[in-house]
Amino acid sequence: MRMNNDFLEISNKTFLITGATSGIGKSICELLLKFNSNLVICGRRTEKLNEIKNKAPQKVIAYSGDLTDNGFIKNIVDTTPSIDGIVHSAGILKYIPFKVLSRKNLNLIYDINYFAPIELTQNLYSKKKINNDSSIVFISSISGITKSAVGLAAYSSSKSALFGIVKTISIELAKNRIRVNSISPGMVRTEMLDGAQDVISGSKIIEDENRYPLGYGTPEDVANFTAFLLSSRSKWITGSNYIIDGGFSCI
Ligand SMILES: NC(=O)c1ccc[n+]([C@@H]2O[C@H](COP(=O)([O-])OP(=O)(O)OC[C@H]3O[C@@H](n4cnc5c(N)ncnc54)[C@H](OP(=O)(O)O)[C@@H]3O)[C@@H](O)[C@H]2O)c1
Repeated sequence: MRMNNDFLEISNKTFLITGATSGIGKSICELLLKFNSNLVICGRRTEKLNEIKNKAPQKVIAYSGDLTDNGFIKNIVDTTPSIDGIVHSAGILKYIPFKVLSRKNLNLIYDINYFAPIELTQNLYSKKKINNDSSIVFISSISGITKSAVGLAAYSSSKSALFGIVKTISIELAKNRIRVNSISPGMVRTEMLDGAQDVISGSKIIEDENRYPLGYGTPEDVANFTAFLLSSRSKWITGSNYIIDGGFSCI
């Protein structure tokens, strides 16, 4: 069902979404399609990209590949139409105790959580593929801002680093009125949380959720706020990080 009232004025705008095959990224794609936006979507699982493309074939361009591969980034940058916004949702979560955290594992996590979104943004900007008045949103995490956990040294620091660069590039890109912000969600029910259950027991997860005043979030909770940041309704907002965590950071 299309939304008739285009309050957000994002109808027919083009947005590039990474991590489109799952969880938060997928939910953002579904919401933007309801608003009649055009999408450029990325992920490694082609069949999942096709599921989104099949919802509105004429409005979606899909790129299947690994964002830690420079050749894949180059292909996107060379061939994508120009865009009005980017959401960097692709990311991985790994629990590795600091004592045994290797450079190899740090690289593995930083390559996709930090370097890939930065390189993609930088290359798109250099090639003038990001229109003036665009909005760029990095999906960070409260673990990089307010609350971390045992084993999250690499993950949390990769997310903190995103906010560091958001503050700088928001100033540099303001001359094109391109806005740059990050969103830091608390726990959201996605495949990422399913994966964490290899490390954290189901009972610990229930215990953790009970500490959230509003419980864990849904991908749609993050998608709704992302759509606002992509829209011109947030045209005076840049260089900021937004915690959305059902009140968890307050306790
Ligand atoms: N879920 C949470 O509780 C939570 C909380 C705070 C922040 N976040 C952040 O929110 C973002 C989305 O998380 P999610 O929960 O939606 O996770 P998810 O369901 O596991 O989805 C992760 C996405 O990242 C993509 N991806 C991972 N590695 C990639 C690579 N090397 N190249 C290209 N794509 C890659 C995956 O696509 P393919 O598998 O198809 O490659 C998938 O679409 C992440 O940055 C995460 O850190 C999540």
